[in-house]
Parts: sequence; C-alpha cells; structure tokens
Amino acid sequence: MATPTVEPDPGHAGAGSVGVVPDIESVAVVGGGVIGLSCAWRAAAAGFHVTVHDPAPGSSGASHVAGGMLAPVTEAMPGEEDVLALGSASLARWPEFAAELGAAAGCDPGLRTEGTVAVALDPADRAELDRLADYLRRIGREVEVLRGRELHRAEPALGPAVRHGLSVPGDLAVDNRALLAALLAGCRRAGVGFEPARCEVAPPADVVVLAAGARSGGLHPRLREAIRPVKGEILRLRARRGALPPPSRTVRAVVGGRRCYVVPRDGGRVVLGATQYEVGFDDDVTAGGVRALLDDAERVLPAIAEYALEESAAGLRPGSPDNLPLIGELEPGVLAATGHHRNGMLLAPLTADAVQALLRGVPVPAEARPADPARLTGGQVACGQVVSGDASHGSHRHSQGERSEP
Ligand code: GLY
Repeated sequence: MATPTVEPDPGHAGAGSVGVVPDIESVAVVGGGVIGLSCAWRAAAAGFHVTVHDPAPGSSGASHVAGGMLAPVTEAMPGEEDVLALGSASLARWPEFAAELGAAAGCDPGLRTEGTVAVALDPADRAELDRLADYLRRIGREVEVLRGRELHRAEPALGPAVRHGLSVPGDLAVDNRALLAALLAGCRRAGVGFEPARCEVAPPADVVVLAAGARSGGLHPRLREAIRPVKGEILRLRARRGALPPPSRTVRAVVGGRRCYVVPRDGGRVVLGATQYEVGFDDDVTAGGVRALLDDAERVLPAIAEYALEESAAGLRPGSPDNLPLIGELEPGVLAATGHHRNGMLLAPLTADAVQALLRGVPVPAEARPADPARLTGGQVACGQVVSGDASHGSHRHSQGERSEP
C-alpha cells in the first residue's frame, strides 16, 4: 500500500467526509460479496483502477445465500432510527442502481417491486405486528392494515390461520444471485481485476477497502471487536406442478414469536429464511433449523409442503454492536465497508456511493455518516495494518443440518 502523503484532517475523522489519500489511482477491495462488488463496480466506473481479492467472488458467503429483502421498514426495530434512515436512503437509490447496473452489465440484476406484506397468526404475534404498525405510523411511514378477506385476496397462498397483516408496498426485494451475476459482469466490463488468492498481507494499492463480511474482523485490528458472525440458515424451494403458486410479494411473518420470511423468485421459486444464531464461524445447516423454518413457513403458506426443496444453506452475517454498518476510514489508506448484518443487499447502493465519495475526497451522503467506524473504534490509530485473514465470507451449502433460534 502506498504511504499516504498527507494526514487526513482530524476534524473530519468522525464525520466520515474525508478523502483518504490524495491522487488515488489503485484500489484493492478485499471481499467479493455484494458490498465489495458494488464498491468495486462503482469505483471502476468512476475511473479508479480496481482489483477485487476473493477466492470465489459472487459465489460464496452471506450474499450468495441472502433472501434479498430490501426492507428497511419491515426490518425496523424501535430505537434503531439510524438503521432505518440508512436503509431508507439506500432503498431510494435502488431503482437507479439497478437500472445503471443492468445497462452496464447487460443483464437483469433482479430487482422486484411487488412490495411486502407482514402477517401474524396468534394474538401475541399480532400484538408485535400492531407495535410495528404503531412505530411506523409514528415515524411517518406508509403502512396499510389488511384483515381476513382482503389479505387473502392480496395473497391467495396465505393459509386460513393468517388473519392479520400489514401491506408495506415500499419494501422491495432483489434476486441475490441475479444481482451478484450482474455485479460480476458489470465489474468485468468496467475493467475490475480479480485476484483469487486469499489476502495474507495488505494488497498493493493506494487504498484498500475491507469488505469481507463476517471475516472482516480478522483483517484489521480496529475491526476485531466490532464485527462478529451471526449465522443464518435459509431454504430454497420450487412450486411443483399442481401446487398453489408462491406469493407475488415478500411475506414476512411472526409465528410463535419467531420471525420468518418468504421471498419470491422467478420460476415459482422462493427463498425461505432465516434463522439467526450467534455461534461463531459455524456454518453448518442444522436439522433443527430446517425443521423450524419449514414448520413456521407451512403455517403461513400451507402449499410450501408440496414444494420441492432444492437447497439448504447457511451464511454468516457480519454483525456489529449497534446493527449499523462500518463505512469509512480506519486509517489513512484503509477503508471499512462491512458490518451490514441483515442488510447487505439493501445497503449496497448507499455503501458504494459512500466509498466512492471517500475515494474522491468529497463528503459522504449524510445518511451514511452514523456508519463512520470512528463511533466504535475510537477514531484514528497509527497501528492499523491489514493482517492475515480469510478474505472470503463464511458460508457453505449443505444438504442437512441442526437447530435454529429466532
Ligand atoms: N436480511 C434478512 C436476513 O438476514 O435474514
């Protein structure tokens, strides 16, 4: 890595608005998931010389198994207003991001605009849905309450036990694998280089962007305590001939206090997710996890029982202490773009814009400022060095597995 010729302005260090190195030409992105590839594509399109370091770009890691919800509203948790603002700002960028990527890559990045319905079954689950609706109304978000018949008219695949729902038309979805394929094609067309070796030392570049998802904690001392793996298991299913077709919208449900979602894909396919469990770098799919996902989904969409089970998979979300990502400077010449937890797909456009702003030395988008890593890692340090680590994200596909928790 080139030695920076000037120190960044310390007054900007907490505001996430400082350019990292003057006259940057080369950029190394460590990690080829949705965040790394989005940053690489945007940076290469802006004229930087970009190399992505990952043994399996676009085809492993949490991005590869993601449900693909672009859902800041239905993922909203009271008290996480910065997460909601960041997600909403990124969602607003999604249509343009998808259109530009589609044109640049020559293929469809898989954005789906049908919207989302959130549903509940028993009274306790309904109370949680009511709390979400109240919270969203309080902060001025669009939600529409749906009851019995209108709910089933909207989504005929919902089971008879589902009596209460919220329509959230603004929460969208993307086919994660179509998106990753488009990003890879867009990167290649923009001249991004790919380096398959794992990063053992700092890659040679003017600026390094650490975007290795759950593995990012092993790549820099300031990320060590900040990033942790949060396991999630998903299933991919296909409606067989004669079975009721899947819903057209994303369906999110609270079932016995557990959250699950069904995200439609083309060809009668759905992604069913997801468990959430803090078990370190364990990426086995568990039998209990599969059972819990199927039990919950079948209560919401009974036809699921007739579908073909095509795949089970586990991924490791990159969690952070406050559920906000880390996007910004760790030290001169080293940027973080990680810690996106449940929202990597959603936050890709805004993260790529923020990283590009940092590379160009212009202010990052205002909504991205709360994601400045200085909030967690105490500002600039002198000892930062990209250390040995596995640049790939953690996930494998398996045929069977163990137990899950909500
Ligand atoms: N984005 C949903 C999940 O992480 O399960």
